[in-house]
Order: sequence, then structure tokens, then C-alpha cells
Amino acid sequence: MKKMFKNLIFFIQLKIVKIFLEPTYYNEIIFFQNIRKKKYDDKKFKESMLRSIFHQFDKKLLDSKIAPELINIYEKKLITYLSDKDIDTVFLNWAKDLVTYAQSEHVNNKLDVRIKKDSLSPEALYELIRDRRSIRSFNEKKISFTLIKKILESGLMAPTGCNRQNINYLLLNNFEDKKYCQKLAGEPGKFVTQAPIAVVILVDCRTYTCLGHRHQAYLETGAAVQNMLLFASSYNIGSIWLNWATTKHEKLQSFYSRFKIKEYNLPTAMIVFGYIKEFPPIIPVRKNIETCLYRGQPE
Ligand SMILES: Cc1cc2nc3c(=O)[nH]c(=O)nc-3n(C[C@H](O)[C@H](O)[C@H](O)COP(=O)(O)O)c2cc1C
Repeated sequence: MKKMFKNLIFFIQLKIVKIFLEPTYYNEIIFFQNIRKKKYDDKKFKESMLRSIFHQFDKKLLDSKIAPELINIYEKKLITYLSDKDIDTVFLNWAKDLVTYAQSEHVNNKLDVRIKKDSLSPEALYELIRDRRSIRSFNEKKISFTLIKKILESGLMAPTGCNRQNINYLLLNNFEDKKYCQKLAGEPGKFVTQAPIAVVILVDCRTYTCLGHRHQAYLETGAAVQNMLLFASSYNIGSIWLNWATTKHEKLQSFYSRFKIKEYNLPTAMIVFGYIKEFPPIIPVRKNIETCLYRGQPE
């Protein structure tokens, strides 16, 4: 009965959305609704769930006193997870460490504060951030696959909601695939197919448990993309961040079947990389901090 009522409310909301809001939003809601209808039991899904469940415990570890009942709950969860051979041991060990830490006399333990490396000065990092530009002119020099993987990996270091780590990548290096995805991204510029590498960011949306979570897919994309653009700049590799314009069901279906990608992966952005041929002749200047700073009341 309760479920029927919930479905009815959802149906009414959907109709309202369809009538009054733009199609992109409607398509997005359908995408998430389709995902939530299905049950999943594969490795990636289970690992993401583990990270997100144990993240709730992770947040408690700085409390001086963790309730023994809570430790018991997570210990029981851990036992069920430990027997699951699907889950990578690095994640199981992380969950195990959390429980072991909570059970220990951790209160007076010195925290492992990572020391900043001298080689990375705040000024150098600031300059890297300040001087990164969107590059739309690339030369043909190839980027080694090792370096490409390192850049993509830097995206995985970005923060994610509840530590879910749902980002995946589709790496494109042939002309036809780049052209096809460029069309879906909605970017007409020639630079996309000219760039040696193009990457579509995909977010596995299965562990966003409510519709309100869907923004996280885009936020997490943003964090990952910015990591990659900056890291690539540190190698003098130019890059550009492209919007992904297509949310239409039929178009996404053809994208999934072309690249044999599961339908719960939402394409959220595309980035292209390459060694720089030309810099933008006029730099897009940034606002002055004083013009965008609101201040709260002093204490
Ligand atoms: C979410 C997002 C979407 C973007 N989409 C495009 C795009 O579709 N095509 C493009 O040429 N540039 C795109 N850009 C790059 C911006 O145009 C660029 O960052 C901005 O003009 C400032 O230039 P800069 O990156 O060189 O500082 C996008 C940037 C962001 C953050």
C-alpha cells in the first residue's frame, strides 16, 4: 500500500516535471528512475556500497568515544563483507582497519598527518592553477599510455560523496569515435578530433540512492576533471573540458551499445588532451576576489 502510494506520488511529480520543465531534466529523471528499478550484485556495485556504508563509520573515528553498539554494528557488517570474494582486498582492508581502529585505544594515538613535500610550494601550485588554460590547438605528438593512465588516475584522487568513487572513463583515440562523441557532447569545434586523446567521463549512478543525489554525479565529475586538467598542465599537456549535452534516452542507448557500456553509467563530461600547439591569444581574465566576497558578521 505504502509502495503504491509512493509510486503514485512519483508518477504525479514526473508528469508535473514533464509539463513544466525542460526535456533535459525530464530525461535525467527517467535515467535515474530506470536505474533504481533494477537490482545489482556485481563487483563494482558492491564495492561502491561498501565504501559508502563504511564511510559513515569513518566519519566517527575522530570522536573521543565511539559507542560500543556502533562498533558492533560495523563489526557485523564487516564479517558479512569479508566473506565476499568479489570485493577487492584493498577496500576490505580499509573497512577492517576502520573497525580495528575503533576497537583499539585510539584516543591518544598520534594521527598520521602527511607532511607536505617541499618540492611543491604553495606558490608553484597557485601558479599552476592560475595559468592553466583551455587549449583548443594541439600538436600531433603522442602522449604515452602510461602518462594518460596517470592523468586519469589523478581524477580518481578527487573527493567523492560518501567516498563512493563512482567515476569511470571511456578513452577515445580513433577519429570516428571522437567525432561520434563530439556530436553527443554538442561541441562543434574542430579541436576535438584533432586532439590526440579524448575521454568521456562516466558516472556509475547506481549507488545514488535518491533522486536528489543525481547532482553528485556532476559535482564529482567536476572535482575529478579539475584534478586531471591541472595534473596534465604540470606536464605541459593542454586540455579542455567539454559539456556533455546529450541526455536523450535513444541517443544514450546507441552510445551504450556502440561502446558496450552498461546503461547505469551517465556520461557527464568529455575532456580532450594533447601537447599544446597554440595558447589562446587573449587570456580570459578572472574576477577580482573583492568583487565576489560576501562577509558574515564578525564574532
Ligand atoms: C562545465 C564546463 C563546460 C565547458 N564546456 C565547454 C565546451 O563545450 N566547449 C568549449 O570550447 N569549452 C568549454 N569549457 C571551457 C570554458 O569555455 C573555459 O574554461 C572558459 O572559457 C575559461 O577559459 P580558461 O579555461 O582558458 O580559463 C567548459 C568549461 C566547463 C567548466
